[in-house]
Amino acid sequence: MAKGWFTKIFGTQFQRELKRIRPIVDAIHRHEERLKALSDSELQAQTSKLRGLIAERTTVLAADVERLKREKHDCPDAEQRAELSQKLAVAEAAYVKALQVALNDVLPEAFATVREACRRLLGSEVVVTGHALKWDMVPYDVQLIGGIVLHQGKIAEMATGEGKTLVATLPLYLNALAGRGAHLVTVNNYLARRDSQWMGHLFTWLGLTVGCIDDTEPSTPERRAAYQCDITYGTNNEFGFDYLRDNMVFTLEQRVQRSHAYAIIDEVDSILIDEARTPLIISGAVGSEADEKYAQFNAQVVQLVRKQTAVVNDLIAKAEPLLADEKTVYQGAVLLYQAQLGMPKNKKLLKLLQEPGVKAQVQRVELDVLADRKLPAREQKMRHVEEDLYFVLDERGHSVHLTDKGVETMSPQDPNLFVVPDISHAVHEIERDESLAPKEKIERRRQVEADYAMKSETLHIIHKLLQAHALYEREVDYVVQEGKVLIVDEFTGRLMHGRRWSEGLHQAVEAKEGVAVQEESQTLATITIQNYFRMYDKLAGMTGTAETEETEFFQIYGLEVVVIPTNRPVRRVDKHDLIYKTRSEKYKAILDEVERQHERGLPILVGTVNVDVSETLSRMLKRRGFRHEVLNAKYHQREAEIVAQAGQPGSITIATNMAGRGTDIKLGPGVKKCQVCGITAHEAPFGQQIERADLPPEEIKRLACNDDPPCGLVIIGTERHEAPRKTKLSPTRG
Ligand SMILES: Nc1ncnc2c1ncn2[C@@H]1O[C@H](COP(=O)(O)OP(=O)(O)OP(=O)(O)O)[C@@H](O)[C@H]1O
Ligand SMILES: [Mg+2]
Repeated sequence: MAKGWFTKIFGTQFQRELKRIRPIVDAIHRHEERLKALSDSELQAQTSKLRGLIAERTTVLAADVERLKREKHDCPDAEQRAELSQKLAVAEAAYVKALQVALNDVLPEAFATVREACRRLLGSEVVVTGHALKWDMVPYDVQLIGGIVLHQGKIAEMATGEGKTLVATLPLYLNALAGRGAHLVTVNNYLARRDSQWMGHLFTWLGLTVGCIDDTEPSTPERRAAYQCDITYGTNNEFGFDYLRDNMVFTLEQRVQRSHAYAIIDEVDSILIDEARTPLIISGAVGSEADEKYAQFNAQVVQLVRKQTAVVNDLIAKAEPLLADEKTVYQGAVLLYQAQLGMPKNKKLLKLLQEPGVKAQVQRVELDVLADRKLPAREQKMRHVEEDLYFVLDERGHSVHLTDKGVETMSPQDPNLFVVPDISHAVHEIERDESLAPKEKIERRRQVEADYAMKSETLHIIHKLLQAHALYEREVDYVVQEGKVLIVDEFTGRLMHGRRWSEGLHQAVEAKEGVAVQEESQTLATITIQNYFRMYDKLAGMTGTAETEETEFFQIYGLEVVVIPTNRPVRRVDKHDLIYKTRSEKYKAILDEVERQHERGLPILVGTVNVDVSETLSRMLKRRGFRHEVLNAKYHQREAEIVAQAGQPGSITIATNMAGRGTDIKLGPGVKKCQVCGITAHEAPFGQQIERADLPPEEIKRLACNDDPPCGLVIIGTERHEAPRKTKLSPTRG
């Protein structure tokens, strides 16, 4: 695999890109020669010198922008203001353009300064998230190229572990010299903290200030100070929320952000593609009696859900034998379809659906039902499918409704209680009623409307409660901590503090779990991640896998993707996926593999898709008597510590989603046995290092490296991610 990958890159796009970039790299090398001779303090003085060079070429234009801003601010006349706005836009564009030209010119010297500074720092100590590290990095040439690509406002695709954290320092340093701030955006606050402290070592040595917004409280002087720093690290959500909060302040002084000049987004595909359309929402409490109703109706809904579960279990039990026989399989599928309408997440059902051919049969039934519904009422043959159920959920749970049977059960005395009247019909009737005086008509209408509002609110609450019970699973979709319902991020497995599901779902889940139902809130300000990042003058991104998203990045953000080769040949060995018929067989196979590798003294990382699976596996490992660590949303605080130990011989770590975590694992003594196992590529087209075997050929042969690598970190993925772009989790060693 690695070989094909190499030719692909060097044969095509990278080659072209390289032609343009090579002269820049050469220029960096030339500056480096000169900088080597400088004393430490002379090297540090480079920062103010370069700042001066940039300022010299942009101050006039920058002053123009400031002047127009002030004029516009002070201008009382709307027409003049519009005119000034236009002038301002022109001036800003001119400034940004001149700035980019100046930065391009300074780039080689700035990058050389950073590289030389890294060299001076070798061996110095830096404390990162509480652990002392020795600085051991000087950017490689491929990393310089990555930095150039980022400076140009593109996406640099560099494989995991290629040191994107360090790569980012080059363009961050350069762009920060303009004095307008440079932002580095991460997916989680662990990475923001880690990288700001780690890279902060280099930046402060060079005389720049570094802040991490996630280490400060929102709307405080500390938060503002973090933005005033030359370089600011933080999570995408925090950047976005600060922008929203800034738009709600009363005076300009209360704002924390300054300009949106340049941002580099780490793990860019997860931020700009996966999360891009989720709006960030700031909401305020509106307080209403509706909140009490969630708890009030919960008891009834619990009863209904219990009844429905019994019905669904019954349907499934009946279906199972029918599926075995070809003559009755369709009948069985109809029953399963009914069960699916009632409880789409029923465990037994999901298991049956995984058996060969069953899902296809159920889908056929679904199509038949859809077709049947289009027929005139009298000819419909499948109307009964909902009859046995109390409520019906659509497959993805977006909609839910009570059936007649459900309404009757909820309110045996008054069957109309949970039926929303047809308001237009009722209003029409009132209008036509000639026996009513105009005043009475208004009175009647008001009554109908009030009745309508009350009933639809009640129904809405009941629907949300049904969803909460039937579709949202504790420990998978959310956890309950200290009387609060916390959402678990489906992608990262992390807890999303402060986020709430909208439209009453969160209240419903709170009622279900019996914790205090928080007030319904209303949206005060909102922005999507996509729109937030579009505000930056220049945007860049880094990722391990972006090629699949290339068109999307380009269409939405105008961002190009450049694939950067690895500095050394890839030595990861990817194994094929293994598929098991049942979950328990799969778990057993995972445990067996963990045991096998553990006995050989290798560290093992088991990747899971959610908290639930990680805890199941943890229990099973415990039963087999294996010491291990669990890294998921619940034990997030100890993350750094767990990661630091995960590469030690024989350690076992279970992790929920591994984005940005895998490479922090440092291999302990004896884990890597020889220099070359797993390597299949032997070309070095661009300054990369090719490993030389440190063991004699016979010895390596004896280790049988490429059949079943005897060394390295063993990664076992328990599930294949549904989305193709996300890291494929398959048994991988290297
Ligand atoms: N030039 C260098 N010299 C020595 N070590 C380096 C260099 N660049 C990076 N490293 C090391 O490589 C490791 C991986 O770096 P980093 O976490 O930045 O990778 P990454 O590309 O961001 O990976 P991921 O995609 O998993 O986030 C780190 O331990 C870092 O110290
Ligand atoms: Mg990284």
